[in-house]
Amino acid sequence: MITPVIMAGGSGSRLWPLSRSLYPKQFLALNGDETMLQQTLNRLSGLSVESSVVICNEEHRFIVAEQLRCINQSGAIVLEPVGRNTAPAIALAANIVMQSKDNLILVLAADHVIENEAAFIAAVNKAIPLAEKGKLVTFGIVPTEAHTGYGYIKRGTEIDNDGYQVDAFVEKPCTELATQYFEGKEHYWNSGMFLMKASRYLEELKQFRPDIYQACENALANTSNDADFIRIDQVEFEKCPDESVDYAVMEKTADAVVVTLDAGWSDIGSWSALWDVNNKDTNGNAISGDSINHETTNTLIQGGERLIATVGIDNLVIVDTKDALLVATKDKVQDVKKIVEQLKAEG
Ligand code: GDD
Ligand code: MG
Repeated sequence: MITPVIMAGGSGSRLWPLSRSLYPKQFLALNGDETMLQQTLNRLSGLSVESSVVICNEEHRFIVAEQLRCINQSGAIVLEPVGRNTAPAIALAANIVMQSKDNLILVLAADHVIENEAAFIAAVNKAIPLAEKGKLVTFGIVPTEAHTGYGYIKRGTEIDNDGYQVDAFVEKPCTELATQYFEGKEHYWNSGMFLMKASRYLEELKQFRPDIYQACENALANTSNDADFIRIDQVEFEKCPDESVDYAVMEKTADAVVVTLDAGWSDIGSWSALWDVNNKDTNGNAISGDSINHETTNTLIQGGERLIATVGIDNLVIVDTKDALLVATKDKVQDVKKIVEQLKAEG
């Protein structure tokens, strides 16, 4: 059986000013009526899965509980007192799953868009026999550009028609390497979703990062449950190193395999990525909220607070909220996180 593990503890700072630390992007409805977390859970309805484990920051517990309740989902909600990135988050969830049985865990980010759900389900079904054999399966996307914000997977020997051994896994390469990988056509993007036995993840983590493994064990030795919330030991978890699953395990394991995924996947990592996936008018504008436009092209306008009027602009991002307005050119939106850093520094 499969237990979905939904990682929902990211901060989403590149989607400021809509995504805030108290309300990060995975809890927002950015492309439709449901929030990204709700979409992540609902897209599993075509799979045979047990109830999910959502792992998030303690301060978002009521948002998560409410969003699950609204779509009639139940499941454990693991609360991290501090964020220590995805390697520890998955370790906590895998340990909790193992307390009942050694299920396969389908590790999903809470902030991805997948247009073709049937293709996604088919890829997961293909991955099941591989994961049952003890492989750590990742889902690979054919790159469309030399993006430096993703992990790159070098395809090795073919296992079956859509599965390959992973020859190399390189998390977030520099521009030069990303360009080389993109042009060589032997690499996939790591989608950040994984299927593996809970026990296999913990074995690999114990081998490659015993410090993270042990810190998570210690943090779990003293848990308290109330309702669906599982709270772990704050003092012990604070001692855990901060590391992503990609660096801690995927770059190092010899048992990684990749199953290809062609399902209209995207990581809404920035405002330009949201423009990419949203419906656009004939001028290439993706608009939400009240807006009048003249000679405006290829622009994302995210409003709702007041009328937004634009004249003679191209390729911009305009995001208006009650207390902050962002105007940026679309090719510079990765740097929005610099604004967030500056705001944090200024307190
Ligand atoms: N519970 C928990 N705790 N969740 C976390 C934490 C944490 O400390 N940090 C991040 N997450 C969640 C985020 O909310 C997101 O859903 C997911 O884990 C992935 O984290 P990101 O911070 O968005 O990772 P990334 O996009 O930089 O990189 C990963 O995803 C890419 C594809 O989107 C990597 O796996 C890359 O290799 C991959 O290409
Ligand atoms: Mg991401």
